[in-house]
Amino acid sequence: MGSCYTIIFLSLCTLLFIASRSSRSVEGSLFLFPVKEASVSDLQAAFRQNRVNSRQLVELYIANIQKLNPVLKAVIEVNPDALDLADKADEQRKNNKTSLLSLLHGIPVLVKDNISTKDKLNTSAGCCALRGSVVPQDAGVVKKLRKAGAIILGKASMTEWAAFRSDAMPNGWNCRLGQAVNPYVASADPSGSSTGSAISAAANLVTVTLGTETAGSILSPSNANSVVGIKPTVGLTSRAGVVPISHRQDTVGPICRTVSDAVHVLDVIVGYDPDDKQATNEASMYIPHGRYAQFLKADGLKGKRLGITRNNDLVGFNDDLETLKAYEQHFTTLRQRGAELVDNLVIPNFELLEHSVFYAEYIALKAEFKIDVNAYLGNLVESPVRSLEDVIAYNKKNADAEMIEKYGQNILVEAEKTRGIGRLEREALANITKACKDGFEKLMKHNNLDALMSPGSDVASILALGGYPGINVPAGYDKNGIPFGLSFGGLKGSEPKLIEVAYGFEQATMIRKPPPF
Ligand SMILES: *[C@@H]1O[C@H](CO)[C@@H](O)[C@H](O)[C@H]1NC(C)=O
Ligand SMILES: *[C@@H]1O[C@H](CO)[C@@H](O)[C@H](O)[C@H]1NC(C)=O
Ligand SMILES: *[C@@H]1O[C@H](CO)[C@@H](O)[C@H](O)[C@H]1NC(C)=O
Ligand SMILES: *[C@@H]1O[C@H](CO)[C@@H](O)[C@H](O)[C@H]1NC(C)=O
Repeated sequence: MGSCYTIIFLSLCTLLFIASRSSRSVEGSLFLFPVKEASVSDLQAAFRQNRVNSRQLVELYIANIQKLNPVLKAVIEVNPDALDLADKADEQRKNNKTSLLSLLHGIPVLVKDNISTKDKLNTSAGCCALRGSVVPQDAGVVKKLRKAGAIILGKASMTEWAAFRSDAMPNGWNCRLGQAVNPYVASADPSGSSTGSAISAAANLVTVTLGTETAGSILSPSNANSVVGIKPTVGLTSRAGVVPISHRQDTVGPICRTVSDAVHVLDVIVGYDPDDKQATNEASMYIPHGRYAQFLKADGLKGKRLGITRNNDLVGFNDDLETLKAYEQHFTTLRQRGAELVDNLVIPNFELLEHSVFYAEYIALKAEFKIDVNAYLGNLVESPVRSLEDVIAYNKKNADAEMIEKYGQNILVEAEKTRGIGRLEREALANITKACKDGFEKLMKHNNLDALMSPGSDVASILALGGYPGINVPAGYDKNGIPFGLSFGGLKGSEPKLIEVAYGFEQATMIRKPPPF
């Protein structure tokens, strides 16, 4: 009797001990350090003080993903090697002077599902046809992340083909995972196409993320999910190994909870890449000595000239805007912090810009997409599909009938009909160039602006046309609790100024709050 009791008692003890150990690593409540909402700098400090390590961090995020992803559908795949990578990072930290390690060393990162990783993860742009395809190598930005010691935690979900499949497809939906959900208000638009990156950052499924943008895909989901998104000047970050839409417009950038986190990620991923030679070479002249963290300045708004337009449908703070009052309050704050607001600006040659956004851009993108995506698919080591034509055929044959009936694939089909860059495409491209020069650039230069502001991510449509950079910062929540942001756009290479402005605005308002989970 007694010995049996002892044995039972002992195993009970063991069980309790294991339970408390695992609840320690899963819930994080007994951590010496609160991981939820922790920034990159917080985590590095905690690493140094042995209050948390990368393995515990990865365990916690995986637990969060297991708990929340069935609802949010923000993560397509978790890296089966993430814990091993974390152990390696912990080991390296023990053996290295921590001052020599990158700020991203040992930090978990989720990358959008159209950014190649040469590991056990699929790279599929959310498309079922690309499941099981084998990429030749890590994307240029992933190489830089790994070199800095960051841990690739997994792939974030996205609007399939970055919304370039069909007009009828909702933001954040893809064949592989279904519909992603806004963590603030489940019925609200989660936006796209870097939907999973924005949701994952917002809901603390990871420390930092990467998204990509052709026309709004970083700024817009950042706006909708109350996080910070930086859309870099095209070429500042390498697009090698990124499933393309257009080499003229595509760019890779961070989506994070704070401006500083986003800038620390930007510092790691910018720069020359021989596999995206021309664009990264041209843009590398914009990278300042010492990179971008130096522009996280408390007084960054001082003397900045910020443009405001009204009464236009592209970027206007119009009278019927529900959130206008909140924006007007922010304008006051910006002025109080030393910015000069240049109000009621009129964009020169506005019709040119409008025409490009609503007409010419799509003509160019369709043709560029076919060329660029066929090159990408042709380069894969293995793939069920080798061309856009194959993808369309695959969708017809294999995708479940309900999905293809519901959302179709009209954009893919229209892109397939294009025949390279012909007369019409050249005319569209010339119109876009003219709209950029005589519209946006004229506005910025004639008024000596450091940034043009827009409600939400509206400025993204203009920024897309010319490869210009932009940053979205959380700016509040409407009466239903739906987030909205404020975006700042600038001329090529103006990241230093945009970062000063965005950081200054964020620090003056500190309005972001985590979603109600
Ligand atoms: C120090 O860290 C780097 C990664 O930043 C790693 O390559 C190297 O192996 C580490 N050194 C030791 C002794 O662990
Ligand atoms: C990648 O896709 C294949 C084929 O669908 C699947 O078997 C595998 O589990 C996926 N990899 C991961 C890490 O989820
Ligand atoms: C993936 O990456 C590029 C890079 O910007 C993005 O613009 C594009 O929309 C995405 N492409 C696809 C086909 O998903
Ligand atoms: C280019 O602009 C001209 C003049 O505004 C317009 O007539 C023409 O339709 C445009 N073409 C394309 C392809 O955008």
